[in-house]
Amino acid sequence: MAKLGVNIDHVATIRQARKTDEPDPVWSAVEAELGGADGITFHLREDRRHINDRDAELLKRTVATKLNMEMSIDPGIVRIALKLKPDQCTLVPEKREELTTEGGLDVHKLRRRITPVVKKMKSAGIVTSAFIEPDSKQLSAAIECGFDAVELWTAGYSDAGTPRTREAALDMLGCAVEFGHERGLIVHGGHGLTYRNIGPVAAIAGFSEFNIGHSIVSRAVLVGMREAVREMKRLIEGAGHHHVALIEAEDLLPLEE
Ligand code: PXP
Repeated sequence: MAKLGVNIDHVATIRQARKTDEPDPVWSAVEAELGGADGITFHLREDRRHINDRDAELLKRTVATKLNMEMSIDPGIVRIALKLKPDQCTLVPEKREELTTEGGLDVHKLRRRITPVVKKMKSAGIVTSAFIEPDSKQLSAAIECGFDAVELWTAGYSDAGTPRTREAALDMLGCAVEFGHERGLIVHGGHGLTYRNIGPVAAIAGFSEFNIGHSIVSRAVLVGMREAVREMKRLIEGAGHHHVALIEAEDLLPLEE
């Protein structure tokens, strides 16, 4: 059964809208854990647009499940990660002008820069993961760099405009999971996953963890974090029975097509 990592960045986004001290993402992490989250994910961005250094430190001291830090390979951020020692670091591409992470990290192109970072993290006892597109070239490069895990970029599926492109994206994810497993990688998934679209992805055998942020925080605004996490956990757990998960997802919100 895939685990659920709850990305709490957007709780901090709400706080930063007023540059005040509420809502506190650390409180939301506790609430997410009480709702059944298997882990808490945050992205300490170079521009600190949502999560800041204080949050990262308090999350490290507070989170009782698994703490996953998303980060770029900027040397300043790598230094912070090595000191903080979260349970897992997920290396992601980062651009100032983007609204959210756009696509996967080009591990193949950057492998010479990435390999020493992975090595340092592993010797600090941190599990290393690379956020990549479901592509055999990137998977092979991730293995070459020494990553323990990959997080497959699922937005190709979630952004698909037609049932055909959605099916093709699901197939690519399925093949990438298999390719990674055969070569000893732990495989996670994330980006763009929602209550409506999680079913078919969660039904793919072999995902160890999904990291979901925007959709859970959005629902939490209306129903509370504990309930929002509970509902997502239920969908992931029900996904083994493909049709049941879809019916549940449709019950929550109508599908557009
Ligand atoms: N996984 C990674 C690597 C990400 O960068 C993000 C966004 O920060 C997520 C998962 C969560 O994506 P979403 O907010 O669309 O659920």
